[in-house]
Amino acid sequence: MEKKSIKALVIFDTTFGNTKTIAEAIAKELGSGAKAVQASSVGASELKGLDLLVVGSPIIGWKPSEKMETFLNGLAKEQLKGTKAVAFDTRVKIFIHGDAARKISERLEAAGAEIISKPQMFYVKGREGPLFDGEVEKSVEWAKSIKSLLKTK
Ligand SMILES: Cc1cc2nc3c(=O)[nH]c(=O)nc-3n(C[C@H](O)[C@H](O)[C@H](O)COP(=O)(O)O)c2cc1C
Repeated sequence: MEKKSIKALVIFDTTFGNTKTIAEAIAKELGSGAKAVQASSVGASELKGLDLLVVGSPIIGWKPSEKMETFLNGLAKEQLKGTKAVAFDTRVKIFIHGDAARKISERLEAAGAEIISKPQMFYVKGREGPLFDGEVEKSVEWAKSIKSLLKTK
């Protein structure tokens, strides 16, 4: 019997491409019903009827990027009611790096989403990247764990 594909949207912002790489790796692992899209080009209709919403941004000045903030600000209070969601960010390895994934998670929850996994972070070697070795593989493993959560929740 054919397995039903997961309808998922992976919304990301990126300046140097690292967050896009992670978003696309996650979308690929989620399967043929998933796609990765830039935060600035997401239409409200695309947020309807999803099995899973994944949102990821680089940390810029301790918080999500401006375009990601614009996307989050555009979410209405109950817009994500009934939608399962998770968030991630990309960041450098410094002592005080701020946070984007947790903030995104909170904002998705405020818009009614059910957060099914704790925020995840992926590390770049410098502002422009590249990603540390193993981070893409880590994102694939994360996507796998979310897929199995979707089966049980
Ligand atoms: C203007 C600017 C501010 C940044 N501020 C932070 C920060 O506060 N904390 C952090 O961990 N990384 C910070 N970074 C590093 C970014 O997180 C890094 O550039 C990003 O993960 C790369 O993702 P991208 O290739 O998708 O743009 C900053 C980068 C830029 C360009």
